[in-house]
Amino acid sequence: MTAFPVRRLRRLRRSPALRRLVAETDLSPRRLVLPVFVKEDIAEAQPIASMPRVHQYPLAQLAAVVDVAAEAGIGGIMLFGVPAVRDAVGSGATDPDGILNRAIAVAAAAAKGRLTVQADLCLDEFTDHGHCGVLAADGSVDNDATLEVYARMALAQAEAGADILGLSGMMDGQVAACRAALDAAGRSDVVILAYSAKYASAFYGPFRDAVESTLTGDRRTYQLDAANGREGVQEALADIDEGADIVMVKPAGPYLDVLAEVAAVSSVPVWAYQVSGEYAMIEHAAAAGVIDRERAIGESILGIRRAGAEAILTYWAIEVAGWLREGR
Ligand code: PBG
Repeated sequence: MTAFPVRRLRRLRRSPALRRLVAETDLSPRRLVLPVFVKEDIAEAQPIASMPRVHQYPLAQLAAVVDVAAEAGIGGIMLFGVPAVRDAVGSGATDPDGILNRAIAVAAAAAKGRLTVQADLCLDEFTDHGHCGVLAADGSVDNDATLEVYARMALAQAEAGADILGLSGMMDGQVAACRAALDAAGRSDVVILAYSAKYASAFYGPFRDAVESTLTGDRRTYQLDAANGREGVQEALADIDEGADIVMVKPAGPYLDVLAEVAAVSSVPVWAYQVSGEYAMIEHAAAAGVIDRERAIGESILGIRRAGAEAILTYWAIEVAGWLREGR
């Protein structure tokens, strides 16, 4: 009888009002987290050449950045420190006067509960060799020696007032080590965000500029191999067992399959980090006039959300929150 298809999928795409009504996925400012770089010993905000519109901020401007983020209604800021001096063991990371710990304290005071203050918990910004951990005599990254430093870093960040610790170093056992140290210090209130499925990626390139990384070589002995999806899921499950409150996949765009699988099996919230290279690709392509900047940004973030991320770290957090509030 039906010579012509009864099912016409185009019907629901006919008008903007219909499309808006049937959209499966949406974003809201609360789901966005802004990464913020705080640099020691600068007087003015410095642009980062590889990341148009992104800056390193002096400590003195951080409270103003927090105000802008809070007014935009986003869920939090993720702090990174760029220290003036680095050493082999990353002493600046555990020193209460280190730039990141001072930034946490300033941000926590400015936030006044309006948004969460999160901190990157990793040694790469603080070591003179640029690796995420301390080195053994043979030059390899010493997993278990690094855990002791991470545990002290966790306490310093908790003491400074961080709501959420972002464990991004990819050492085995890092969640358990930090959780045990926090519990022993009576800080079982502190949230652990595990960068569980963190891949060794070319897309961190611009970030290395942003934190003035001194790394030579790569991080392939601790970050995941791009070929492996199942291993990313295992990392997330292991971190949940160790006490992670939130797990994350990073980068986001090239790993949406991993994100979707982690989201399908996780018993805790799942986030994704749209990293510096994902940001830079769109900014530079738009500047070259080859893609529509705003549409590409929106689509890239919506795709990450659709794949299963409940919150997204993105350098566009403030701008996108503004669009959302305007109803765009
Ligand atoms: C580690 C860390 C990195 C990023 C976030 N935390 C760098 C790395 O692992 O090489 C990358 C973020 C980005 O590229 O935007 N401190």
